[in-house]
Amino acid sequence: MALAETRRAPARTALPGRDYLSLHDFEPAEVAGLIEDGLAWKQGSMPPAQARPLQGKSLALLFLKPSTRTRVAFEVATASLGGHPVCLQGGDMQLARGETIGDTGRVLSELVDGIVIRAFAHRDVEELAAAASVPVVNALTDLLHPSQALADMITLRERFGRLAGLTLTYVGDGNNVCHSLCFAAAKTGIHLRVACPEGYAPAAAVLAAARADAQCGGGRIEVMTDPRAAVEGADAVYTDTWVSMGFEAGADARRRALEPYRVHAGLMRLAAPHAVFMHDLPAHRGEEVTDEVMDGPASVVFAQAGNRLHAAKAILAAVV
Ligand code: CP
Ligand code: NVA
Repeated sequence: MALAETRRAPARTALPGRDYLSLHDFEPAEVAGLIEDGLAWKQGSMPPAQARPLQGKSLALLFLKPSTRTRVAFEVATASLGGHPVCLQGGDMQLARGETIGDTGRVLSELVDGIVIRAFAHRDVEELAAAASVPVVNALTDLLHPSQALADMITLRERFGRLAGLTLTYVGDGNNVCHSLCFAAAKTGIHLRVACPEGYAPAAAVLAAARADAQCGGGRIEVMTDPRAAVEGADAVYTDTWVSMGFEAGADARRRALEPYRVHAGLMRLAAPHAVFMHDLPAHRGEEVTDEVMDGPASVVFAQAGNRLHAAKAILAAVV
């Protein structure tokens, strides 16, 4: 059946005033709604009456660490939904001179209609959200990257026409991207296999919460050490950097431990013949992935990056 025939009539998912800090906080139907909204934004099928939900609204986009995709996606999404983005770098703000994250949240709530924040510590984003009276969107922390995971689900949904029952294998460091994939899989009915070395597994608390979510969402999460077993027959193979922002101390030890987890053409050959290769980017070519795989026919990484925009629109249109 063609993708268009399987989709519900477009109507924006409404989650007004909600923070978007983790997919764990959303019901499976709400996550499904955001995925379908992302596809509708991409396909231009959102009804004209719903096309500019941020008209007359301003958003603070606060980036305390580097970003290319996420910042551009949220800035373009805000503008194209009719809103005004105010882009802020931590170093230019009074945060750099000791103003607290809580006070920053209270002040920004007086001035804008929503806050998108990328921070080092997840607890800082939680503290900001607790203090703010406007919706707060997590644009990546040391723990989670939920806007990336939404774009990833849009990418898989677009490619395969479904999510439930797909096998997605994540190979490498059990980091923020992996954690949000655990919640996304749990909520959408995906079978997620994570292959990582001892000491680099996803956090136990995240795994427990995601496995609890999977009871309702239908997903399944397995963690193993053998990348070949994890990739066997998979519909999609995903990797991320071995050294995330803020984890530079001990980078050499990480690279040594993760060396057997590089995604190369030989590993990809174990996946299903139709399998896609995914990466949130930026890629460290020659480390977690070879050029051959990044630039090969299975790679969907640049379409995946493009879907960041549609995910950002879905999130902002729902919560702000
Ligand atoms: N994938 C991702 O979040 O990229 P940026 O760090 O460039 O935003
Ligand atoms: N895990 C990576 C993702 C970058 C988008 C990091 O946190 O640096």
